[in-house]
Amino acid sequence: MENTKQQQKLSKRIDARLSELALPKEPSLLYDPVRYTLSLSGKRVRPYLTLVGCGICGGEVEEALPAAVSIELLHNFTLLHDDIMDGAEKRRGKASVFKKWDANTAILSGDAMYAKAFKQLQVYGREEAYTKEDYSLILDIFLNSAEKVCEGQAYDLMFETEEDVSIEQYLEMIEGKTAALISGALAMGAAVAGATEEQIEELNYIGKKVGIAFQIQDDLLDILADPEKFGKKRGGDIVEGKKTYLSLMALQRSEGSQHRQLKKLLLAENNTQDEITDVISVFESLNVIEDTKSAMQYHYQEAIEHLQSFGNSSYKNEITDFFNRLISREY
Ligand code: IPE
Ligand code: IPE
Ligand code: MG
Ligand code: MG
Ligand code: MG
Repeated sequence: MENTKQQQKLSKRIDARLSELALPKEPSLLYDPVRYTLSLSGKRVRPYLTLVGCGICGGEVEEALPAAVSIELLHNFTLLHDDIMDGAEKRRGKASVFKKWDANTAILSGDAMYAKAFKQLQVYGREEAYTKEDYSLILDIFLNSAEKVCEGQAYDLMFETEEDVSIEQYLEMIEGKTAALISGALAMGAAVAGATEEQIEELNYIGKKVGIAFQIQDDLLDILADPEKFGKKRGGDIVEGKKTYLSLMALQRSEGSQHRQLKKLLLAENNTQDEITDVISVFESLNVIEDTKSAMQYHYQEAIEHLQSFGNSSYKNEITDFFNRLISREY
């Protein structure tokens, strides 16, 4: 995904702030994996959205930096735990923390990042520019997002062994595990800007739509992306038997022996490369890939349309451009 000059500038500010965390050297078991995770090139989608979310509501973008960094830390914490849950060996093109160290280390370093995320928010409780209500709203948005991610992740795990999961249940699951953080990112920026309730609600809705699109796309990229660029193993969702937009559609559309074969492959542990290729062929033969792309585009488009309710500003153009670039992201 190509970044614009403005996005590069804001990403630099985010990375500079992340490097100011001044993580202690010891205990290295705790902080080395945190340093490792934060040094790997994440796309920084969520903190960027916090900054532009602040901008579109008329706030000073710089003031949303602590909120942006807190959201990125929360996101990185969820990734460390997610990779343990998903048995994922690769993250951002490198060994995942639980593979490079072990699961205990990944749990603990994740927890440390969660605490660091909270610490970032303290500034809004201390500075006079923010009222008690502002601070409590910022905390509420952050905590609700964190709670919803856990709920979504719980459904994600439960669905692995459930036979009949509907697309509606899937959408509810990703609204938690992925969209909640993206909504929260935008809404936190708005809260820092002192936005109206309507603006915050609108950004929550936009974040929900983008988050749903982003996760459907992540499901697609799991099989389509170049693993080098995407930084994760191809077919990881198939190996784990995840209920993705693709697998659910394929289960719905297949019949007879093809259906039985697909179910067996998704339930099997440690699929071979050939089996992964077989599953992808089934997806192709049922037109699942194309229809999943359409679903993803539809949700991005909804988000873009809802941006129209904001007054014209450079940030409105910026967010619109960003969503349009996200639609065609390859990693
Ligand atoms: C990965 O998020 C987790 C999902 C919600 C799909 P990103 O794709 O934003 O991961 P990084 O931060 O860029 O590595
Ligand atoms: C993303 O789910 C949700 C969270 C990480 C909380 P995935 O399990 O699909 O994310 P990736 O593909 O591992 O990045
Ligand atoms: Mg995962
Ligand atoms: Mg997962
Ligand atoms: Mg995924």
